[in-house]
Amino acid sequence: MLEMEDSIFTKEANEMGTASMTETLTAPIIVHSQHTTEDPTLTFAKDVLKGLNESPKRLSSVYFYDERGSQIFEKICDLDEYYLTRKETEILEKYASEIISDLPLNTHLVELGSGSSRKTRILLETALARFNLIRYSPIDVSAEILEKTSRNLTQRYAELQVEAIAGRYEFGIDHILQHSHGPNCIMWLGSSIGNLTRQEAAKFLVGIRQRMKKNDCLLLGIDLRKGPDILEPAYDDTRGVTADFNLNLLDRINGELGGQFSRDHFQHKAVYDVDEGRIEMYLVSDLDQDIKIENIDTSVSFEKGEHILTEYSYKYSHAEIKALADDSGFRLERQWLDESGWFSLNAFKPRNTMHEMHAL
Ligand code: AVJ
Repeated sequence: MLEMEDSIFTKEANEMGTASMTETLTAPIIVHSQHTTEDPTLTFAKDVLKGLNESPKRLSSVYFYDERGSQIFEKICDLDEYYLTRKETEILEKYASEIISDLPLNTHLVELGSGSSRKTRILLETALARFNLIRYSPIDVSAEILEKTSRNLTQRYAELQVEAIAGRYEFGIDHILQHSHGPNCIMWLGSSIGNLTRQEAAKFLVGIRQRMKKNDCLLLGIDLRKGPDILEPAYDDTRGVTADFNLNLLDRINGELGGQFSRDHFQHKAVYDVDEGRIEMYLVSDLDQDIKIENIDTSVSFEKGEHILTEYSYKYSHAEIKALADDSGFRLERQWLDESGWFSLNAFKPRNTMHEMHAL
């Protein structure tokens, strides 16, 4: 899930040659990772074939986010039950100036995922007020989303320089940290880290830490452990939006791979495993059925009640957040919580020297 890729890339400044001085200053720059990627449909096909042949069956949550899935996710963020976005926004609104004033002068802001413009804007506006001119680099696999976000932001804020990176997070981080002279703050909001197992999360952060310099920092939004009475409805809302989000995976297989899944015969399920501290999302077959997937020449059998695991969403205790920082070469420097103490925003600072890091 998190392999490194080759760092061959090109810079593509928009109409650099013809733009006027002001446009040149503010036009977004999109850097595209140019490693030889295979056709995304082929990757999807391989993963689907592999996952549905495993026992228990699984599909990766990375495939939730096609165009329709991303739209449904936006709707999830507005649900009463899905408190995460609201709580994180509350923290950002309340503490933005504190968060930003902790950063060294002219910190380059880097964001993993292009972020909901609302949350990102809070930080950007606060940073602009303090630094006058700032560099912002969203990193996202989707070049289309990046172009939209970047253009919007540069039109809105004249003093914002956007250098977006289209590619995997590792590629983007590598590119930015290799080319940067000043301090960087890498932001990963929304508790997206929750999709990684605790071990994968630590490993991913070690990778980031190894590329960071002493003055850089990592700003992590992490959802906290809490009771199933709050967590389960957040992932199984009364309006069925999360169910739609989950079932959209089957629509994707149908549309892109010639699958013959029927939404009527799979049910959305979300359970909180208290010991593991994670939400588990499933699609449950409500009868014995064989499903053809034409483009990959396969047929998959389901028994009544059989589950496809589609997502883990890990939650952290305060001790687990500290341990995550420690285990990956950081120290938890500051933490901000919302009023109810449900969500956390964490500033991680590099702890060890580079030399010690290689031992991790
Ligand atoms: C985007 C991974 C943070 O786990 O809360 C929302 C995805 N899945 N509802 C989460 C999600 C179902 C979300 N993350």
